Amino acid sequence: METPHSTLENQNQYAISTYHDTPEIMARLNRLISQPIRGLKKEALATYLAHFETACSRSKIKIKEAQEYIPGGVQHNLAFNYPFPLVFTKALGPYLWDLDGNKYIDFLQAGGPTLLGSNPENIREQVIDLLNTTGPVTGLFHEYELKLAKKVVQHMAGVDMFRMLGSGTEADMAAIRIARLATKKKYILKMGGAYHGWSDQLAYGIRLPGTKHMEAHGVPKNCFKYTQEFFPNDIKDLEKKLWRNKFRGGTAAVLMEPIGPESGTRPLDKEFNRQVRELCDTYGALLIFDEVVTAFRMGMGGAQGYFNVIPDLTVFGKIIAGGYPSAGGLGGKKQYMQYLAAGLQSGNKKALVGGTMAANPLSSAAGYLTLCELERTNAPVVAGRAGDRLTQGLGHLIQKYNLPFVAFNQGSVCHLETVGTMLFHIPWNRPWKISGTLKNIHARKKVMEEMGAAYMAEGIVSLAGSRLYTSAADTDEIIDEALVRFNRVFQNIEGVS
Ligand SMILES: Cc1ncc(COP(=O)(O)O)c(C=O)c1O
Repeated sequence: METPHSTLENQNQYAISTYHDTPEIMARLNRLISQPIRGLKKEALATYLAHFETACSRSKIKIKEAQEYIPGGVQHNLAFNYPFPLVFTKALGPYLWDLDGNKYIDFLQAGGPTLLGSNPENIREQVIDLLNTTGPVTGLFHEYELKLAKKVVQHMAGVDMFRMLGSGTEADMAAIRIARLATKKKYILKMGGAYHGWSDQLAYGIRLPGTKHMEAHGVPKNCFKYTQEFFPNDIKDLEKKLWRNKFRGGTAAVLMEPIGPESGTRPLDKEFNRQVRELCDTYGALLIFDEVVTAFRMGMGGAQGYFNVIPDLTVFGKIIAGGYPSAGGLGGKKQYMQYLAAGLQSGNKKALVGGTMAANPLSSAAGYLTLCELERTNAPVVAGRAGDRLTQGLGHLIQKYNLPFVAFNQGSVCHLETVGTMLFHIPWNRPWKISGTLKNIHARKKVMEEMGAAYMAEGIVSLAGSRLYTSAADTDEIIDEALVRFNRVFQNIEGVS
């Protein structure tokens, strides 16, 4: 018999070995963004860009052709690499190979889902068996759905019941719908700068705090009537907004990533989640943790287990289908999850959700088998230790070359800030500064892309040149080899002699 919520009793099983000193990191990040940009030396950048022309010529031709048929040439936001996207043909464990035969250390890991490394053979073989018998979809119940739900409930303290959906975006949509039904209140307070998918109401305040609807082209403004953002790590700002909302419809939910927006790019104090929990209880709002990135990556108990703070609803994505398609789900307390009861029963009000491909046998099986493998191999912790090694090594290089860069990590989520693009916010209280801030962000984003290109040319795939996800396939040797490559890039930074 499996022990429910076992991880709460075992705080040693988490990816984070030591929680970062948030004020110290924020001070360094603030210093970074107040200084002039330190990018690549002109000649070095030219050499890196020339590399792509010669070593990646087949990719270049293929992407040029794709641009005729696919808007922008690639289907996925994360695949937009400078100077042009590469075409990848093979992924295995910690490595990727491109169409021209170049081999890379993969710190993108598909944007988070492949915590075991890419395409693990034992999972693949079992998925193939399932495909041979059931195929990918029937629209009917398969026992892997139950196995997966039980596994999630076993590990996640805030989850009594689990419903699989098609993506993290869908799960966030379902979560706020339930919150409004359950509380009969109106507002959703999301942490500024966080991405909770691309649905209308949540396309608000994304990437940078204070952007409000700036990124939401094509969404009517009145969709945001009841969406608000609060400043990351600012409990007073949250409380002020909760208090104000009391008099105009109330707050249905506070929605946040428990390690901070954009996978902790802007880190939170360790006590912040607990403070938010207390405020939610005071104001009768549900606490929704978006654990699309952190669930299982921070440990089998997720970030909620690590912080020992129990949300009312938990949003899942990515790892929940083990890197296979249709990765989304919502878990939570029974009284809230009842709003998702599938089927045709009438009576209680239900939150409208759907999805032809949701909870198909393929994603349920891949998810369940992956969670079992994570458990068996202690993969969240192994990947976390790889993240520690990488971050420490980057820290040494930053010191060695006396660079203003900042490296920090939350286990296997590593941040390498060289320009700090994501650390800005829109200064609405000083409107005359907005245009200058936007220009500065734009210039820094360009240099961040160039850094990403340099890493790529050195054989390292990163997320947008500033985030690195480690996996359990990253051995010490692989991390050390990556550091040799980062060393080469850092030698080429302006001002390094
Ligand atoms: C924290 C968070 N929430 C939600 C999403 C959206 O998930 P999906 O891409 O599966 O729709 C993402 C995707 O990156 C995410 O990082």
